[in-house]
Amino acid sequence: MRFILEAIRELEMKEEDLIYFKSWFSDFCARYYFDDIDDQRNITLKEQHTKNVCSNMVEIARAHYIDPNDVLLAEAVALFHDTGRFPQYARWKTFRDAVSVNHGLLGAETLLKEQVLVALPADEQTLIIQAVKYHNAYKIPAFQTAETIKFLKMIRDADKLDIWEVFIELFSLPPELRASAATLGFPDTDGYSGGLITCIKDKRIGNLKNVRSVNDYKILLLTWIFDINYEKSFRLINDRDYIARISEYLPRNDEIGEITAALTAHVREKAAVSY
Ligand SMILES: [Fe+2]
Repeated sequence: MRFILEAIRELEMKEEDLIYFKSWFSDFCARYYFDDIDDQRNITLKEQHTKNVCSNMVEIARAHYIDPNDVLLAEAVALFHDTGRFPQYARWKTFRDAVSVNHGLLGAETLLKEQVLVALPADEQTLIIQAVKYHNAYKIPAFQTAETIKFLKMIRDADKLDIWEVFIELFSLPPELRASAATLGFPDTDGYSGGLITCIKDKRIGNLKNVRSVNDYKILLLTWIFDINYEKSFRLINDRDYIARISEYLPRNDEIGEITAALTAHVREKAAVSY
């Protein structure tokens, strides 16, 4: 039995693989550095985002899975999830998939073309590629294996956690200091669309297609609460106070007050936190 277990372990991703992947990834990012300050700010934003998503991912994986291989694979998925953002920005100078390319798909293609994962067992290579490819899909495709779905659910949570952090920081900055590609070019006008508020009332995720302004984008970010999978993620949302911190940048009125309270209650219930 011991020999079988050791043989299986031989066929698993190791700590050394993760070290190699991290060094490959920083060399990869460096290929996309710009002299222009604004372009470089956009690249730095994604490089820093990747680091933060890795740490969120490890927190979620450790809280829910005891197998160290799950934690290593989880971190590799997080490290590579936005690989497509770099060639996307280099070619299209935007992070808006709808007007350029699906960055999940481009990331998966890039990892395959660069043969980054070849030292891993075939099933782990497939898992990482599939998780990168679909991390940004509107819904998790049902045709994935249960194992891939587990990692997709983790990366989708870990990614959202940092996107909230990035945007809260961005909203606090004067527009001229914001990374230009981050707010996807929406106008920073007053008011907001009622359709996105309805999504929150119906407890469902909104669609970027219905976003017309930066305020709409803030409400879209709040609807993401309804696409969170793990209890640990809800606990992090609660601890980091994302709902109140985003709502702070929305117009102050009864409607916004009500959705903020409803979202906060939802998070506390899912995080199993009582006050
Ligand atoms: Fe991401």
